[in-house]
Amino acid sequence: MSKAPKKKKAPEKDEALSRKEASHLTMEEAAQELERLAHEIAEHDKLYYQKDAPRVTDAEYDALRQRNDAIEMRYPELVREDSPSARVGAAPAEGFGKVVHSVPMLSLGNAFDDDDVTDFWNRIRKFLNLKEGEELAVTAEPKIDGLSASLRYEKGKLVQGATRGDGREGENVTENLRTIGDIPATLKGKNIPDVVEVRGEVYMSHEDFAKLNERQREAGKQVFANPRNAAAGSLRQLDAKVTASRPLRFFAYTWGEMPEMPADTQTGMIEAFEKWGFTVNPLFTRCKSIEELIVFYHDIEERRATLGYDIDGVVYKVDRLDWQNRLGFVSRSPRWAIAHKFPAEQAMTVLESIDIQVGRTGAMTPVARLAPVTVGGVVVSNATLHNADEIERLGVRPGDTVVVQRAGDVIPQIVRVVEDRPRGKTKYKFPDTCPECGSHAVRETNPKTGKLDAVMRCTGGLVCPAQAVERLRHFVSRNAFDIEGLGEKQIAAFYQDGLIARPDDIFTLEERDKRELKKLKDREGWGATSVKKLFEAIDERREVELDRYIFALGIRHVGETNARLLARSYGTLENFEAQMRAAADPESEARAELLSIDGVGEVLAESIVDFFAEKHNREVVEGLRKAGVKAIPLEAQQTDSPVAGKTVVFTGSLERMTRSEAKARAEQMGAKVAGSVSAKTDLIVAGPGAGSKLAKARELGIEIIDEDQWIEMAGG
Ligand code: IVH
Repeated sequence: MSKAPKKKKAPEKDEALSRKEASHLTMEEAAQELERLAHEIAEHDKLYYQKDAPRVTDAEYDALRQRNDAIEMRYPELVREDSPSARVGAAPAEGFGKVVHSVPMLSLGNAFDDDDVTDFWNRIRKFLNLKEGEELAVTAEPKIDGLSASLRYEKGKLVQGATRGDGREGENVTENLRTIGDIPATLKGKNIPDVVEVRGEVYMSHEDFAKLNERQREAGKQVFANPRNAAAGSLRQLDAKVTASRPLRFFAYTWGEMPEMPADTQTGMIEAFEKWGFTVNPLFTRCKSIEELIVFYHDIEERRATLGYDIDGVVYKVDRLDWQNRLGFVSRSPRWAIAHKFPAEQAMTVLESIDIQVGRTGAMTPVARLAPVTVGGVVVSNATLHNADEIERLGVRPGDTVVVQRAGDVIPQIVRVVEDRPRGKTKYKFPDTCPECGSHAVRETNPKTGKLDAVMRCTGGLVCPAQAVERLRHFVSRNAFDIEGLGEKQIAAFYQDGLIARPDDIFTLEERDKRELKKLKDREGWGATSVKKLFEAIDERREVELDRYIFALGIRHVGETNARLLARSYGTLENFEAQMRAAADPESEARAELLSIDGVGEVLAESIVDFFAEKHNREVVEGLRKAGVKAIPLEAQQTDSPVAGKTVVFTGSLERMTRSEAKARAEQMGAKVAGSVSAKTDLIVAGPGAGSKLAKARELGIEIIDEDQWIEMAGG
């Protein structure tokens, strides 16, 4: 079983989310956006620097970076390891030159527990076919959390320094690396081989990091999230003078091209590096058993907080180089080395309160507000609690002392409550109303699994500020009201300025604009012509087909198909609304009728009924009516067909046409197609295999025909 995290694919862009203001993003949305931005900005960097083929303008690129910064500022605990903010200053006209590594810079496999280390040890013994009693020595050293670099010396002089890049090709940062005190410009000692490539980690100490951030803060400049980001950002400065002003350090721990080896063991190589003038890690140790490795690991883990620099595990390497050579590599990691990672970083703090954040779809996510605590070099003051079930599972109450954890790119989490500390007094009660709009919240049933969803959702829809822009965007979208010139951007801006809060506001915009002092045409990005066009486009849509209208309302689970189904079944908006209100009573005929529609199940029915049960939703429909918006019944249906106005049920299998074709044809002929037989059913079309429905129809004395008769009736 491989525990190594898989390389993630670039996340898909969520258009609506990408337009939501940074200050309005929930924690989960922020994490999603930061992931997208990291990928997107990296992609643009690649196009710009490596392919010389930018796809966006500088302004667009800057906007992406600014958004990334704004989100990071709001949620510092979400700053990613691959955050673009760790690469500040890389944007000017020229990037760094490229360096193809003469020997690729590889990565390490991971061990997460003692068993993985035992496996590593035994695998090596087996591979090398070591006899019992034959000694295996493995070195152990801290795994530094910085960024690796490769230094090339020719005739003892530093000629080139590069970042790891993708392992095959990195960036030429020679001048920047020269500014680091731990890196000698000229190698010390005699008999230095002609070509020497030393590799290691560039990092920043905790103390230096704190001072740098202090300086940056005072100067009103960017503050770094952690020492690793600060080191990366400092090394990738185009101006080496800036790098020189940053307190970077370097530990040498491996090598690249080395035609003349100064030693035949890992230990010997490290000694040689030291003699040449490099700083090597003082904790480097040679171990002769699994037990010694484990002891080393736990020792370092204990001292981790006092080392003065960030580490994220320890690295074990087979000491004998001839054995390293024999062991070789599996894909991109050496078989002779492994990283034994520390568990996710944890810290204790107090949960001060639980806030509810409402996402664009109304999902209510509880967020833990914590007394700020440093976890792995990052100050954490928010953690996700996912949902009500998670709060229940943890048994967490505001006021509790909790253990928080941060692991890689994951949103900080609460691991557990610390029982032997004073507990919070009152149990947390998940709100049943939305904190943004006061509408009531429901826990829905997942239509696919039939199970109760873990998520509580605000039913506020359009009146909920957290959902409004998304809902409005949906309302004007292509398959809904399709209002040209009113895109996501415009909607968001109008919403922000209080011009459009609900769909009916769209239709009163022109009227209101006449009365306003600050005219729409004077707004940025607008002019007399574009405003005139917009008003015309709005006017054109004062009448839309009923199915579009229903779809536009954004009722959960009512997509285009269901909207059409409902439009066909209920004919007019007034009838639809009246029936849905009547259907609020589960025992009502209206509810039975709704459920009898082929394609309408319990979950969908519930969702439509709930929608109309909310006053604010009815107000929107009423508002649209007042603003003169009309829903036109679907294309005039035949009224002279033998099934016009009748309720038809299809049962059993059809052989000459598909069920959906038969249904569509029946609807076109003005019939209502139902999924179940009731006293209201007028006609049954029964194919082979018809069962209980047919029996019931017989019982009720309903007219029954077969497929051939149906086709004849339908006009062949
Ligand atoms: S040895 C062929 N030793 O870890 C393997 N790597 O996951 C050469 N790292 O990219 C790497 N401290 O940036 C080695 N003491 C150490 C290390 C170390 C940190 C980093 C390095 C590398 C990554 C591999």
